[in-house]
Amino acid sequence: MRKGIILAGGTGTRLYPITQVVCKQLLPLYDKPMIYYPLCTLMQAGITDILVICTETDRPLFQSLLKNGHQWGINIEYTIQAKPEGIAQALILAEPFLANSPCALILGDNLFYGHHLQATLQAASNMTGASIFGYHVANPQAYGVIEFDQYNQVKSITEKPAIPKSNYAMPGLYFFDNNACQYAKKVLPSPRGELEIVDVITQYLNNNNLTVNILGRGTAWLDTGTPDAMAEATQYIAAIEKRQGLKISCPEEVAFSMGLIDQQQLTVLANQLIKSGYGQYLLSLLNKNFPDEMH
Ligand code: DAU
Repeated sequence: MRKGIILAGGTGTRLYPITQVVCKQLLPLYDKPMIYYPLCTLMQAGITDILVICTETDRPLFQSLLKNGHQWGINIEYTIQAKPEGIAQALILAEPFLANSPCALILGDNLFYGHHLQATLQAASNMTGASIFGYHVANPQAYGVIEFDQYNQVKSITEKPAIPKSNYAMPGLYFFDNNACQYAKKVLPSPRGELEIVDVITQYLNNNNLTVNILGRGTAWLDTGTPDAMAEATQYIAAIEKRQGLKISCPEEVAFSMGLIDQQQLTVLANQLIKSGYGQYLLSLLNKNFPDEMH
């Protein structure tokens, strides 16, 4: 069974003073904490066994918010990253939790939303080797960038290139087979002193074992690295939720729609939040019929 990892450490210095006391992944994106978004993405990929990697200081806060996950029909465990020494380090820290299982690693500040996303995630999860995504962005130099050859085969992936070879950024969601920990251990620190995830993915590429799934225009991929990016994500979520009357990345709803919790459990969760519109929304899901998909 594929297991999930949410990387929610880091110092958040780019968001100071907002993140001086509360870490970034616990900040709100419109009506819910940021970490709910990547958590729901993993759940929609069909993953129910999840490790949250965070700093020692933040661990009790994450635990108090997400608990052991059982309330949402999933299992959540916690591991500490003492220092932000690179995204690839998450794979090494997760080794005991993974116990040789394949995994999906998602960054705690990445938000995905769009039509048929659940099917796209599950298809990526069913691939062998490593399966990553490509997303057209206006500013590729801020990301890992995917270079394609004339046959649309991946040629290279470069972290934050000064001169990007394409507009396709690599979002912070990666599906790996059970070789990922071993590959991560082979990675040496980059000039900026981090174990780069690109160096893990390049090993899959060199072994002809990498799939890149292009997320089309109908999908939103947002990250929240700056105050502007956070404000834009909040506005996006608010606009969609108000228009549709449906929530983006609500773990209770995802759990309910995927059959991880039943009506009675959803009612209990809703009643705990009944004074907010969020709790009312959960109640409205009971006995509701969705002719199309819910997410
Ligand atoms: O958002 C997608 C991008 O994320 C990818 O395109 C890049 O290839 C990837 O390197 C990453 O770039 P960022 O510049 O966004 O990485 P950043 O260092 O900001 O880390 C992303 C998140 O992961 C951030 O919320 C903090 C967390 N993190 C990061 C590192 C390096 C950790 O928890 N621990 C770490 O050691």
